[in-house]
Amino acid sequence: MIDISDLWLRAHPHLRPLPRHLPLSQEPALHCSACGQDGAFSVIAHVRFGENHWQENSRVICCESCGKWFLPEDSFSQLNGLMPTAVDARLWSRSPSFLNIEPTTRCNFSCWYCVGRQMEQKDITPENFQQVLDNFPSVKTLALVGEGEPLMHKGFFDMARMATDRGIRVVIVSNGSTFSTSNVKKICESGIAYVSVSIDSSDAATFAESRIGGDLNQVLTGMKRLATYRDEHGFRYPRIGLKGTLFTHTQDQLPEIVALAKAHGAEIFESFQPLNPMSNYLPIYPEAQLPALTSEAQSQVVSAIQRDSKAAFAQLESVEDFCIEEGIAYSNSGRPNGLRANCDEEWLYALLSGDVTPCCQIKTPISPNWNLTRHSIDDVLADETYENTRFNLWNGLFPDYCKGCYKIK
Ligand SMILES: C[S@@+](CC[C@H](N)C(=O)[O-])C[C@H]1O[C@@H](n2cnc3c(N)ncnc32)[C@H](O)[C@@H]1O
Ligand code: SF4
Repeated sequence: MIDISDLWLRAHPHLRPLPRHLPLSQEPALHCSACGQDGAFSVIAHVRFGENHWQENSRVICCESCGKWFLPEDSFSQLNGLMPTAVDARLWSRSPSFLNIEPTTRCNFSCWYCVGRQMEQKDITPENFQQVLDNFPSVKTLALVGEGEPLMHKGFFDMARMATDRGIRVVIVSNGSTFSTSNVKKICESGIAYVSVSIDSSDAATFAESRIGGDLNQVLTGMKRLATYRDEHGFRYPRIGLKGTLFTHTQDQLPEIVALAKAHGAEIFESFQPLNPMSNYLPIYPEAQLPALTSEAQSQVVSAIQRDSKAAFAQLESVEDFCIEEGIAYSNSGRPNGLRANCDEEWLYALLSGDVTPCCQIKTPISPNWNLTRHSIDDVLADETYENTRFNLWNGLFPDYCKGCYKIK
């Protein structure tokens, strides 16, 4: 072991394990040879040896008890006596160009699983929207998505235009219920690049049970209207995507949903997910739905989605291919750091208040310094608490609010 505490503290003293993080189930607590306690564990960092030999993704042992940082034997055995001279643990995405901002929490549906129905019903103000764009001049792709229906915002097309006029690519996720003739014309003329439509079931009655207030036929007709208007008027965009949520009673419906959506203009398969089991979502679910959240029920739905998604890619283009074609820097799944599941989303999520949260499943602002109406993106990214949160998430040291997320096993 080599003690690299001085190097670590010189480079980034604020990068430390959170005092309280969810237990690591995938690795036993390591023994710290300095203080003799069992509270040590591994993180990943780039380490420089000698003058210029950087060894990427080296394992570094950190002891929570004595606060020391060590390189274990296996991290330097190849280096012929060269000593570590620098360390860099900022390995997460440092220059995001994808921002997801919530336009509204209001909606014309009342899906029983939607956390947005319990949130304050509000729209982002035009001033705040403009401020966010001003504060994030390097943004290239803007997802107008949140816990509401984006098209319910009265200024939706003004916001889309404000962004496209700046050369920003706009994408949305919609419930697909408001694709009237006048709206499909506005969508095409606004230059929105991608419209993803959520469909939970291929059967109208089952659809209406989860998408309360929704009508499957109206959604499908609207999608078709959008695709037809776009094609007949020579617009290249929007490309039309498909996503949705599956439950135990609908887990085998994916092939039918894909076929139906494709027949009505869907071209891109985005993603299907099971009911979100995060602890901040649980209180909103009706009691009758709780059996669907047992780990057995969840893994059945996940397996069905994985199985049928493969076939879906034969029918529709994958969203990954679409992102590559369009040059969209977007990854939902993170880069594994080789130790345990972690969180390294290459995009930022902001609530309609402009508050950036660590991921789209966290709806409570964490720090006033992470607000894009008041601070520049560079200031948010450089904020020490923000960096420390990213460091911990990247290393799979999840805070309490991540409880229930599928990454935490
Ligand atoms: C929050 S909605 C917002 C956009 C739009 N109103 C819509 O429904 O598509 C985005 C997606 O999240 C999914 N979703 C919402 N709440 C969920 C939950 N608790 N569990 C799983 N998926 C959920 C919806 O099915 C939808 O596909
Ligand atoms: S349509 Fe979307 S925003 Fe509206 S209630 Fe359903 S999930 Fe929530």
